Parts: sequence; C-alpha cells; structure tokens
Amino acid sequence: MKLPVTLKRVFGLARSNGGNPVKIDQISGWVKNVRPLKTITFVEIQDGTTLQDLNVVLKQGPPSFRPALGQSVTVLDPEIVQRKNQQFETICLPHNLRLVGATTEYPIQNKQTALPTLRKLPEFKHRTTYLSNLMRFRHKIESRLSKTLDELDFTLVKPPILTSIDCEGAGEMFKLKQDHWDKAVNLTVSSQLQLEVLMMGLGRVYCLQPCFRAEKSDTNRHLCEFWMMEVEASFIGKNETLMDLVELMIKNVVSSLCETEDLPKYFPVGCNNGVTERWAKLLQDWNRITYTKAVDLLLSSGVNFEHELTWGKDLNSEHERWLCDHFGGPVFVTNYPRDCKAFYMKLRQDNATVECFDLLFPDIGEIVGGSIREDNYDTLKAEIQRRNMDPNELEWYLNLRKEGTVPHGGFGIGIERLVSYLYGNPNIRDSIPFHRTTGQIDL
Ligand code: 4AD
Repeated sequence: MKLPVTLKRVFGLARSNGGNPVKIDQISGWVKNVRPLKTITFVEIQDGTTLQDLNVVLKQGPPSFRPALGQSVTVLDPEIVQRKNQQFETICLPHNLRLVGATTEYPIQNKQTALPTLRKLPEFKHRTTYLSNLMRFRHKIESRLSKTLDELDFTLVKPPILTSIDCEGAGEMFKLKQDHWDKAVNLTVSSQLQLEVLMMGLGRVYCLQPCFRAEKSDTNRHLCEFWMMEVEASFIGKNETLMDLVELMIKNVVSSLCETEDLPKYFPVGCNNGVTERWAKLLQDWNRITYTKAVDLLLSSGVNFEHELTWGKDLNSEHERWLCDHFGGPVFVTNYPRDCKAFYMKLRQDNATVECFDLLFPDIGEIVGGSIREDNYDTLKAEIQRRNMDPNELEWYLNLRKEGTVPHGGFGIGIERLVSYLYGNPNIRDSIPFHRTTGQIDL
C-alpha cells in the first residue's frame, strides 16, 4: 500500500524507540507555527492525525522558501526523535524542507480566531486546533455510543432519508419538488417509524443519520440538518429501562473521554472552561422527575418566567434551564401530557399522560427524547384519528400492531447537542462540519 506514513504512526514508533531516532523517507504536513531564532528556525508541522506537532529544527542556510503559517510542506529523510520533554523533533537541513503548496493570504492566525469569524470561513475553519479537535471529539463520542449498543446486541441499520411521513407530526418537514411519486415527499425528521419496522425483525436496532427540520428557531441549539442516534428495542414496556440505557450510553462516553490520550492538549488545565469538572458531574447519579412534579416545582419556584406555564403546556427552554440548575445536573422529565407529544407514544392509565421522557442537560436543554410506543392497534388508531391524521397513510405502521405486536420503545440522541455540551462549546453550529440554519447553505 502506498499510503503516506502519518505523524501519529511515526510518533508511536518514536515513543517506543526509547529516545532513539526513527528514520523514514519523508513526512508531510501543514505549518502551524514558525519561530525564527538567530541560527535556527523552529517550524512546527501537523498532518491532522494527531494533536502533537513535529518540531522541525531548520538549520541555517539559504532555504528555497520562507516557512509561513498554512503552507503545506514535506520533510525529506527525517530522523524523528522524542525528546525528554516529550516533544517530537527532527533536525532538518534547508534543502530537505520542501514547499508543497504556498499560501497567499492565509486567513487563520496563530492566536485564537473568534468563532463567529471562523463560521464565515467554512473552507478554512477546520484548520484551527479548536475546531479540528471538536471534529475528533465528535468521532470519539459517536464511536463510543455505537460501541455500547453493539455490546448489547443492537444492529446498526440504515432507514431511508426520503419519506412521505411526518414522524413527529409537527409539520416541520422540508418538502421536495419532484415528479417521481404521486404524493408529497420530504426529508425525514426522524427514522423512528422505520426503525420500529426493523425492530420487529431484528429485535434491537439503531441508526446514526441526518434528520431535517424546517426549524424557524434561529438559536444556538437548533439546526435544519442535524444527526440523531435513534435506538429502538423490543420487549420493553417501561420508561425506566430506556432511561437506564441512555444513562449508560452517555456515561460510557464520558468515561472514555476522561481516558483520552493527550487530554491536556484538548483541554489545557486553567483554560478548559470547566469541561473536565462538567464530565465528573455527569458520572454521578441523574435525576428523574415526572412532568407533573416539574410543573409543581416551577410554579412554586417564585420565578417570574417569560413564558407562562400551566399543566398541559410544553416546557420552554427557560423552564428546562431552571430545572437543571435546581437539580445541579441532568434531569429526565417523564410522562408528559399526551398533547405535548407525538401520536405514537404509549398512553398511560390516567388517559392524560404518555410513557415518555426528555433528558435535559444544563445550559443546552433537551438532549434526548424517547418513549414507550403505543403497541395496541385500537388505541393507536383512535389516537391517529383524534389528531385528524390519515390512518390510511400509516396503514403499514398500524399493521405492526396486528401481527405479533410487542411492547417496545426507543429514543433519539441529538448528536450535535451532546457533542457541544461535552466539548463546552455552547453553539451547536460548530459541532457539525457545515451547519445548515436559516439562510446558510453555501458549502
Ligand atoms: O425529541 P425529538 O424530536 O425525538 C424524535 O424525533 C423521536 N422520534 C426520536 C426517537 O424516539 N427515535 O428529537 C430527539 C433529539 C432532541 O432531544 C434533540 O437533542 C435533537 O434530537 N434535536 C435537534 N438537534 C438539533 N437541531 C434541531 N432542530 C433538533 N431537533 C431535535
């Protein structure tokens, strides 16, 4: 295989080589920092596979070019060594440092560029340490979430993106102009209903894919295109089982983040915005309260909320924030009134509330939404009709309740919200490579 060797691999070799140099043909990367001294110049390069720089000690002599931030370069015949201070270094003669691609007006400066500015530089922004680390972090989080499910016998499946159904019934769909089908087609808002079909054959399923919502909310926590990990499991009749699973999945993520190699490089002590303290808190017990209790607490709090709250109304973000502050950490709010939630949720015996939960995190609000699904054919059909939805459109979904129906449930984890919270960056636009919000579609 002719794949170029990566810095990550070379550093691994150098680390295990006990201070002796590792010789390779060449190594390439981008210039992240240049420090000229009197007789030598330090050129720090990275190739994106590790956070650590290769410190190229450029000897004096007429260089063929002037090293500068953002250039791509190749070092020929490097001998890479790990110094006592853990830094990786190679001594380089000027003719061994080759320019691959020059820069003209490289827009990313060494000092921290403000995030609103970076959002306007989508083609360059991932060259910053902060945002490239955020992508690496996202990868770790998604992998660890999947690992927990894989270990519990779930199968990763791929439901469609094009659909004719509005799973959540909220009318927030992006509709397609098309002449392939004789009915309205839109981009999926959630894969849950298809997952329920697959669950009936595979027992336990999950997916990780984009969802699309024509969100009017132009906030830090709403995107028009976001990623959800959706989980669906058979023979589960209680919210508690689902909440236990959510808690396990997220705590496993947090534990694995705590063990990240090079953690101080991601979050240097003193300027980590309390991220690692936040993780430690997440490893403690989480609170669970019913919606009714939450409303009681909010109404008796004495706080003059902007949005008036009465039993039956959905919680607003200010209410969610207050609840998390009150409990000092994550809160599961369960059993919402049926009219606050989607048609598919299991009706409880009181006929007024449904067997569901939202997981609220401090600052960011709802991270996960889930429920036990209504598995009784007649009850589900009556609910569909009560909401003036067309049962014919959902015939296949209702059929699941006729043939071997089982108690089951599932949930959806908003990936960007979880990533943002864990990374300590309040704007979820930075947790997806190229955000889609109102007016933002280029790149
Ligand atoms: O609560 P939601 O709407 O739940 C569902 O769609 C269920 N069908 C999931 C399931 O049970 N399979 O969305 C789930 C999560 C929210 O908690 C939130 O984290 C995220 O998806 N989410 C968004 N994230 C970013 N931008 C948006 N516009 C979002 N809407 C929901």
